[in-house]
Amino acid sequence: VGVMENLALKLKSIGLEVIPRFPGAFPATSPVDIYRAHIADKVGHITGVKPTIVHDAIQWTQTLDKGDCLLPIPALRIRGKMLDEVARSIESQFSSIFLQARRTHPTRPAFNSGTRSRYGHNPSHGLHHPSDSSSGRKKIIMEFGSPNIAKPFHAGHLRSTIIGGFLANLYEHSGWEVPRMNYLGDWGKQYGVLAVGFNQFGSAEALERDPVGHLFDVYVNARAEERQVTELEAEAATIQAVSVDERARQYFKLMCEGDNEALGLWKKFRDLSIIKYKATFARLNIHVDEYAGESQIKKSSMEEAAQILEEKGLSEASQGAVLVDLTQYSKKLGKAIVRKRGGTSIYLTRDIGAVFERYDKYHYDKMIYVIVAQQDLHMAQLFKLIEVMGRKDLADKLQHINFGMVAGMSTRKGTVMKTNETKYQQIEDPEKTADTLAISAILVQDMTGKRINGYTFDMDRMTSFEGDTGPYLQYAHARVCSIVRKTGVDPSKLGHADFTLLTEKHAIDLVRMLAQWPDVFQNTYKTQEPVTVLTYLFKMTHALSSSYDHLNILKSEPNLKNARLALYSSARHVIHNGMALLGLSPLERM
Ligand code: ARG
Repeated sequence: VGVMENLALKLKSIGLEVIPRFPGAFPATSPVDIYRAHIADKVGHITGVKPTIVHDAIQWTQTLDKGDCLLPIPALRIRGKMLDEVARSIESQFSSIFLQARRTHPTRPAFNSGTRSRYGHNPSHGLHHPSDSSSGRKKIIMEFGSPNIAKPFHAGHLRSTIIGGFLANLYEHSGWEVPRMNYLGDWGKQYGVLAVGFNQFGSAEALERDPVGHLFDVYVNARAEERQVTELEAEAATIQAVSVDERARQYFKLMCEGDNEALGLWKKFRDLSIIKYKATFARLNIHVDEYAGESQIKKSSMEEAAQILEEKGLSEASQGAVLVDLTQYSKKLGKAIVRKRGGTSIYLTRDIGAVFERYDKYHYDKMIYVIVAQQDLHMAQLFKLIEVMGRKDLADKLQHINFGMVAGMSTRKGTVMKTNETKYQQIEDPEKTADTLAISAILVQDMTGKRINGYTFDMDRMTSFEGDTGPYLQYAHARVCSIVRKTGVDPSKLGHADFTLLTEKHAIDLVRMLAQWPDVFQNTYKTQEPVTVLTYLFKMTHALSSSYDHLNILKSEPNLKNARLALYSSARHVIHNGMALLGLSPLERM
């Protein structure tokens, strides 16, 4: 309320008495929403078109020289009038108020906010009832990462983690409560292979040292052995040795029956792997609230699901297995196997059980699964099955966020560059800084295209300080930090700087760009694409860097210096907030 009153006063002083309300608009926190509300209101009056229609038709411009907002007249769908005629009447009747507003007191709404560290965030999305902040926040489970404990964390898991981390931030800054979850691949016959292999090739010491790597070696060795035995078998049909495969099957059977010894080894693998995952996620600045996993799904919930499918006449027995024919809903959904021969559960049944168990535990309002597009069919089958089981209410809460594959990722050692000794010494922890830079490089490369597009891992390009890369963003942030720092002025004291002194084109353009940030955030909430944020950040940092030559600070007289400093300091906040949303840790020095 305070923010609104403050804002109302400021706007009144420039001749804008009321801010018309529109659904999905947040004038208290988003300057662009103020522009849009007024344009819609005025144009509504002038043309007789419903203001909400005008409001929805307003678009962004590609570049600032084309203005801040764009209103395509055809989108107003006015009959019986020439487009040009409508445009002219809007222009002539509309222009007064906005030009006047601009001429007498330039508005600088981006600076008004006393909550800069949250500038751009919009916590109202997560409220159960937008008008009532006391009713508690909505809850979204973000499931991402989810590696398989027998195999290394691969590029797909990394990408899921990067995108999931970003989405978790996005929803959190939009007011949702966001439990972050990993659903480990930790169940199935392959864990029998692992255990059998471990007895033969494993070492307790190597397991402690590098659990994920060692388990992978064990798995590979066991598989190789398995192949060898099978070849021998083909040669001499009388071979005595029991194949790895059979021993693994028996071992997994013991696990399923709850055999303590069998489960003990498996649990050790799991626990040690989780310790390693935690460290990996910490490097990426991500924290996981729950390590769930396929092993944790209760038999009873899967049986209950099977029963419902049967009672509804949806499932049918087929050669000892059970399947549900989903082609009646859509050809491409195919027939989903929900039970294998021999009755063991499978990936799909465990996911069905998880939907219900998580609902009982969390009562989520929404659940997002961040999983590679190769599992599109699996997820589509899962969602359909939940729906036909009579739980459309739950199915509607589920969303699969998919993404394309990463090619060409290999291990290669990098070297820390020490081109400037003095600078190097000013950095508190050079190793950590190098790590942060490297991670920024990877993250930005990953987020540069739309999620569904795959890409090829390119170490040289992503680590460059030129072009739209992670290191470039870090550099842009560190540079503006350094400029602000060198003046020795406390940026929080700049709220009363005289912003009317910001008259140059570079200054005004930068203000206009900063004013867009809440709207970009808003749009990101719709697109769920990190690239929406990145595109904006690069545009904005380019505008910032080209303004340095024109808007000098150190040589300016005090009032002008303060106004420009406030501008740079605001830019710093926006870069910081944008980077943090993406999961990058902004560096203050580098
Ligand atoms: N562990 C799986 C894999 O690596 C991903 C799990 C995705 N989540 C799910 N609920 N199915 O392929």
